[in-house]
Amino acid sequence: MATNKTFTMIKPDSVANGHIGAILNDIIADGFKIVAMKYIQLTKETAGNFYAVHKERPFYGDLVNFMTSGPIVAAILEKDNAVEDFRKLIGATNPSEAAEGTIRNKYAKSIEANAVHGSDSDENAEIEGGFFFSQFEKF
Ligand code: PPS
Repeated sequence: MATNKTFTMIKPDSVANGHIGAILNDIIADGFKIVAMKYIQLTKETAGNFYAVHKERPFYGDLVNFMTSGPIVAAILEKDNAVEDFRKLIGATNPSEAAEGTIRNKYAKSIEANAVHGSDSDENAEIEGGFFFSQFEKF
């Protein structure tokens, strides 16, 4: 059964382009509750560990460089069917394929600078949320 939490990052491109507020508004308007949030700059080590699952993929180094190029907003979101609903809200990984009105369609420029991250499974949502937040930082 689907759990009710997912994990997101508002990526450096969205932060640099001043889209934090608009993206959070879209997330809240879609019925998600923010249960944890922080504004941070990832180190190469932290980003490398977070994306370690993609270590063998050709874009791994670029992805780590991009994700450490500026601050990000990390958050845990709550809603029924959170993982699937959030993936619908953000749209396809490649913004050129993202449906009209989705966050990536509105704010992303490329498959690298694609505005936001969203967990791809309940299991990963739990792991990714735990990577960034302690039990005392979740409400
Ligand atoms: S997904 O959503 O996990 O199915 O997407 P996937 O294609 O597996 O991509 C995983 C993450 O890698 C990023 N990505 C890239 N970064 C830089 N260059 C290229 N070419 C590239 N292709 C994919 C993509 O934005 C995904 O980041 P996250 O943060 O997981 O959304």
